[in-house]
Amino acid sequence: PAAVIVAIDGPSGTGKSSTSKAVAAKLGLSYLDTGAQYRAITWWMISNGIDIDDPAEIAVAAAKPVIVSGTDPSAPTITVDGEDASGPIRTQDVTSKVSAVSAVPEVRALITQLQRDIAAGAGQGIVVEGRDIGTTVLPDADLKVFLTASPEARAARRSGEIKGADVTATKEALIKRDAADSGRKTSPLAKADDAVEVDTTELTLDQVIECVVTLIEEKR
Ligand code: C5P
Repeated sequence: PAAVIVAIDGPSGTGKSSTSKAVAAKLGLSYLDTGAQYRAITWWMISNGIDIDDPAEIAVAAAKPVIVSGTDPSAPTITVDGEDASGPIRTQDVTSKVSAVSAVPEVRALITQLQRDIAAGAGQGIVVEGRDIGTTVLPDADLKVFLTASPEARAARRSGEIKGADVTATKEALIKRDAADSGRKTSPLAKADDAVEVDTTELTLDQVIECVVTLIEEKR
C-alpha cells in the first residue's frame, strides 16, 4: 500500500505517545514525537542561558540548535547538536517552560518544517503525534485522530509515569499547560474539522490502539 500519513493530536495525558508508538510498530510505520522536538529546543534554550520570558531572544536563538529525531517506534531517539536529549527533555523544568518556547512563531516555523521533511521522507508512512499536526503541520494527512480524556484521567496517567508525583499538583500543571497550548496565537492545540475524536477516559490503552488501527485500515 501507499505511504499512509496519520496525525494524532490532543492534550497531555490522553495516551498520544503510547498509542502512536504502538500503532506505528503494529503497522510497520515510522513514528514522530513532535512534543519531544519542542522539549529539545526548550532544553537547549535553558542550557544556553536564553531568557524564556523574552520571545524576541527565543526567536533569534531558535535556528541555532540542530535537532534530529529518530523515527523507529520501538526506539525513538532525539539529539540536540549530536547529544542524546531523551533524558533531559523530560525534567519538570523543561515541562514547565516548553509552552512558552513553543508559542514563539519562529520556533514553530522551524520545527514545523523539520516535521514536514521527516513525514515526506518516511517511505512506508508515519504516525505523527502532537498538538497541531492535523490542523497545521500535515493538513492532508490520510487520517486525523484527536484524543481526549477527562482531566482526572489525564492527571492520574501522568502521575503514574512520574515517581512520587502528587495527582492534584499534576492536574493543575496539566490544565495550565493545556490552556497555554490552546490559547496561543500560532497553531494552537485544536481538533481539525475532519479529525475523528476519541474519548479515552473509559478505554484501556489496547482498546485505543485497536480503534486507531481500525480507522487506518479503513483508509487503506
Ligand atoms: O507532547 P508533550 O507533552 O511532550 O509536548 C510538550 C509541549 O510541546 C506541549 O505542551 C506544547 O507546548 C508543545 N507542542 C506543540 N506542538 C506540538 C507538540 C507539542 O506546541 N505539535
